[in-house]
Amino acid sequence: MAKLFDLTGRVALVTGGSRGIGKGIARGLAEAGASIALASRDAESLASAAKELAPIGPRVETFPTDVARVDEIERMVTGTLEAFGRLDILVNNAGTNRRGPSVDVSEEDWDLIQTVNLKSVFFACRAAAPAMIRQGGGKIVNIASLTSQVGIRGTAAYGASKGGVLQLTRSLAVEWAEQNIQVNAIGPGFIETDLTEPMFADPQRGPWIQSRIPMGRRGYPADLAGVAVFLGSAASDYLTGQVVYVDGGFLSG
Ligand SMILES: NC(=O)c1ccc[n+]([C@@H]2O[C@H](COP(=O)([O-])OP(=O)(O)OC[C@H]3O[C@@H](n4cnc5c(N)ncnc54)[C@H](OP(=O)(O)O)[C@@H]3O)[C@@H](O)[C@H]2O)c1
Repeated sequence: MAKLFDLTGRVALVTGGSRGIGKGIARGLAEAGASIALASRDAESLASAAKELAPIGPRVETFPTDVARVDEIERMVTGTLEAFGRLDILVNNAGTNRRGPSVDVSEEDWDLIQTVNLKSVFFACRAAAPAMIRQGGGKIVNIASLTSQVGIRGTAAYGASKGGVLQLTRSLAVEWAEQNIQVNAIGPGFIETDLTEPMFADPQRGPWIQSRIPMGRRGYPADLAGVAVFLGSAASDYLTGQVVYVDGGFLSG
């Protein structure tokens, strides 16, 4: 059974891998034996994450990338292929949010959120798929959200982008099924990261979130690692077009 989850010899590219959920996932993939290509904008935090992960897996390389730019996404994928000679697992994790009442959302807010959270996912998939097809298959893991499934106050633009990620996951899963590329998503619940820090600290929202999670605690980036390894490994070879919610029971409550 351990062989099914073994990622030895595999190469995983994780966007937004410098901190938060992306770093937690990259750590899990490295622990399962994968070499890691890490991408995000800030070269310094990327280098520090790479230093942390280096002793865990076989190899880590960094690719400073702004996923809001398609040319940089293409360079990230080309760089990974040049460095490692293959790409087996693409984790589209980089994401952003600007919370607030919809009446205050500017066109710039809307465009940034759709570009970073949704457009980038499509173009990273488009850039990675030809190499995966040449290799005989691959795994794509997109990071969705509870807001792919339900409405949460103050997150309309974000929810629209993450609903898009869900539908994109299904569409590409169907399109690339015959090429042996499995396209799935992880829907994290409320995970403690820089992105959610302001929500947990809010005197109204913080306790509301806590009270709505059946397991009674927020999640941590390490909580996502097991599902990421599963979706990146042979253990999920007949699973495609699905979202696995890792939410402490939130959506069932
Ligand atoms: N935390 C949660 O509870 C939660 C719940 C559901 C879904 N998610 C999703 O999970 C993913 C990770 O979130 P997180 O909570 O870990 O956020 P985070 O702690 O803010 O980390 C975001 C990561 O993405 C990178 N990033 C942001 N904008 C980027 C860009 N334009 N180009 C390249 N990299 C970029 C950041 O690095 P740089 O700033 O250096 O670029 C960082 O590595 C996101 O897609 C988010 O929507 C999070």
